[in-house]
Amino acid sequence: MPPLSGRPTQILATDSAAGLEHAVTAAVQYLLAGEAVALPTETVYGLAADALRPEAVVKIFEAKERPFFDPLICHLPGLEWLARMTRIPEPSRALVEALIATFWPGPLTLVLPRSEIVPDLVTSGLETVALRMSAHPVFCRVVQEFGKPLSAPSANRFGRISPTAAEHVRKELEGRIPLIVDGGATAHGLESTIVSVEGESLRILRSGPVSREELVKFGPVLEPVRSASPEAPGQMKSHYAPRTPLVLVDDWQEAAGLMASGQKVGLLAWSGIPELPANRTVILSSAGDLREAAATLFSKLRELDEAGLDVIIAESGPESGLGAAIMDRLRKAAGRG
Ligand code: TXA
Ligand code: MG
Repeated sequence: MPPLSGRPTQILATDSAAGLEHAVTAAVQYLLAGEAVALPTETVYGLAADALRPEAVVKIFEAKERPFFDPLICHLPGLEWLARMTRIPEPSRALVEALIATFWPGPLTLVLPRSEIVPDLVTSGLETVALRMSAHPVFCRVVQEFGKPLSAPSANRFGRISPTAAEHVRKELEGRIPLIVDGGATAHGLESTIVSVEGESLRILRSGPVSREELVKFGPVLEPVRSASPEAPGQMKSHYAPRTPLVLVDDWQEAAGLMASGQKVGLLAWSGIPELPANRTVILSSAGDLREAAATLFSKLRELDEAGLDVIIAESGPESGLGAAIMDRLRKAAGRG
């Protein structure tokens, strides 16, 4: 393995027309040279490389220290790539087309039977491939000018909190990748919803911005399967984890019972300020807006994680709609995935 740090990492802004052109050109050049670069998407920042070149994809695994058994999502430049990358069985075709017509480009990833052009490294040897099409204008420009699918997992080191700002990516991967394209804070703040299409049914493999309530309109939603092997894709318990221990409580009364004197405690509240003596308290959305809560969750978790606390106590929230995706991330942060 090459040394994992010491390489200069350039950060390019996209908030002026000239800056955007320069950043897109630089990103495409690095991608053509087989490098991995960090790009903004509408969900979280991704670490992208040429999906069809294993020697480029391997750089993603190295920079993230990601185990090879965890497969990557491929981001398509255009719909013509769907037929090239997959072998969709006839019974699933109408469902796949309806989901794509409704949610692409956007935060929905589809797991479908793969074609032979998809490298084993991308799918970790699985017979399926995860595909999505990003709606982020900067990502769209880069993938379209590159002209081929990009593998792009979240741009964090393996098992850590996904980055929702360029600065988060810098903290995770500086010295390991040549370029971070700064597109500002990401809109959704949570990773895409992942759905596998099985016949005429769907199975939610990861909750996200597209909710179960929206998906049931398209067909029966099968129950999640808990794999016997802990390393099965997306099933790892401790994920999105801050370094500081995080405890998820049902309510603040339970939190009060946990707070030992002398401990530095951080509180993560949904909307109201708890009346508890804490060293740091953050609120996901004082207006009680779930979209705002999702968009700010990971940066608030980082803020608490960097505050030198002994423990983070997080309040439980609603289990429906976007609340389900936020609760999923909090349970994983608590190691209770
Ligand atoms: O919003 C997102 O999806 C972001 C942005 C950058 O696109 N990407 C992202 O990628 O979250 P990553 O690698 O952090 O998460 C991808 C998840 C993993 O849990 C992986 O196990 C699962 O997708 N996955 C990939 N291919 C799969 C497959 N063929 N079957 C089941 N799960 C798969
Ligand atoms: Mg990830």
